[in-house]
Amino acid sequence: MSESEKPAIGVIGVGWVGLVTAGCFAELGHPVWAVDIDERKVAMLNAGGSLPIHEPGLPELVEANRERLHFTTEIGEVLEQARLLFCCVDTPPTYSGDADLSRVQAVVAQLPAGGEHALVMKSTVPSGTGRTIRRDKPDLTYVSCPEFLKEGTAVVDFMRPDRVVIGADPGSEDAADLVEAVYEPLGGQILRTDVASAEMIKLASNAFLATKISFINEIAVVCEEVGADVGEVARGMGLDERIAPGFLRAGLGWGGSCFGKDVSALKKLAANSGYHFQLITSVIEVNELQKRRVVGKLSKHLGNLVGKQIALLGFAFKPHTDDMRDASSLVLAARLLGEGARVRGYDPVAEHRARKLLPSVEFSDSAAEALDGADAAVLVTEWPEFAELDWGEMAVRMANPLIVDGRNFLDPERMRAAGYTYEGIGRASSGTR
Ligand SMILES: NC(=O)c1ccc[n+]([C@@H]2O[C@H](COP(=O)([O-])OP(=O)(O)OC[C@H]3O[C@@H](n4cnc5c(N)ncnc54)[C@H](O)[C@@H]3O)[C@@H](O)[C@H]2O)c1
Repeated sequence: MSESEKPAIGVIGVGWVGLVTAGCFAELGHPVWAVDIDERKVAMLNAGGSLPIHEPGLPELVEANRERLHFTTEIGEVLEQARLLFCCVDTPPTYSGDADLSRVQAVVAQLPAGGEHALVMKSTVPSGTGRTIRRDKPDLTYVSCPEFLKEGTAVVDFMRPDRVVIGADPGSEDAADLVEAVYEPLGGQILRTDVASAEMIKLASNAFLATKISFINEIAVVCEEVGADVGEVARGMGLDERIAPGFLRAGLGWGGSCFGKDVSALKKLAANSGYHFQLITSVIEVNELQKRRVVGKLSKHLGNLVGKQIALLGFAFKPHTDDMRDASSLVLAARLLGEGARVRGYDPVAEHRARKLLPSVEFSDSAAEALDGADAAVLVTEWPEFAELDWGEMAVRMANPLIVDGRNFLDPERMRAAGYTYEGIGRASSGTR
């Protein structure tokens, strides 16, 4: 396909997934027409300058492809220009733990009858959603193409996918061929399947990754009891190609916009058909407990936390993003405040979002300022700049050089040599022995 022949792409919803999708397809040479109901976001994108989200490489991509990128609040403009419509709206959890599909339904309701357009579902939806949508709107051409990008490395993940899953049922194969053609230049393995299986691949993949994390976190607890080091254990396990090393890092537990809601949505999907998904139930519970274990580690050294000044390093759910959705810092700060501690913290990019969610926390302009006079520090997000701090100087600034390294990110020996009482997660000598 030469550049001038590249079909226009429609993107519905320009959040993390939609904006990355729009930017990357523009980079591949497609004219992109993107719509969002958030007028402020669209105005910001049209004005140029800073983007609504922090995602490495994305500002450069958007800037370089301005001529091919069109942002609007009018879906009519998108429908006029593009046949393939990539649906990237949010599917947050409802109070019941199921996925809230109201935004997806609002998109479907706006599509004209006649089958001229193809809706390509990138939003994560429970298995069976595509079938229900087509039952209610039989002439809609529908393709499932779940997204696997990771915030923080989203542009690279999109441009170099491990695999691209394309699900289509009878009647939508032509549109699936078109989707395959637009992904073909990226070189990832393409898996063609039916819609329900494609939807399930996404949910099962996230549930499996969450299971790996909860598993290694439970191993970390046992390591602390027996004096083993979870880092060594994970390294040894990961060398087995049946296990693989990814997602075997013990820490404060998983968070973010996807794992919590997708794991819960899978559990509820099973429950709605009468099955109690026992393994996933435990995976969720282990994760909840993991975020709370830090309080015990602090109390072990400080006793009662009332009035103690605790510094949180990092608020975002992981480094290189300002996303605060389901971040471990939210539970941790709430627990510490509940114990009567005073909480101060710093994050290189997420402060503007964290402020709205953590009104009782004091925000600092630097890690050093957050650590000033603190009785203890908790490393919550493994931002690279925290590894580069002058920890010797920080020990002098702190009232009491105690650090709980919630991501096993710092070198315990160096920290102890700098005068710290160091607590990791499942690291040798982190436990009660
Ligand atoms: N964020 C991730 O890392 C990630 C990764 C893979 C899959 N997903 C899935 O992708 C979907 C989108 O996630 P996100 O993080 O980009 O969400 P987001 O909240 O950042 O963005 C969603 C956008 O859709 C817009 N929107 C809502 N209803 C709309 C409508 N009717 N018309 C036009 N725009 C509308 C919102 O205003 C918002 O800008 C979710 O289903 C999520 O589970 C997310």
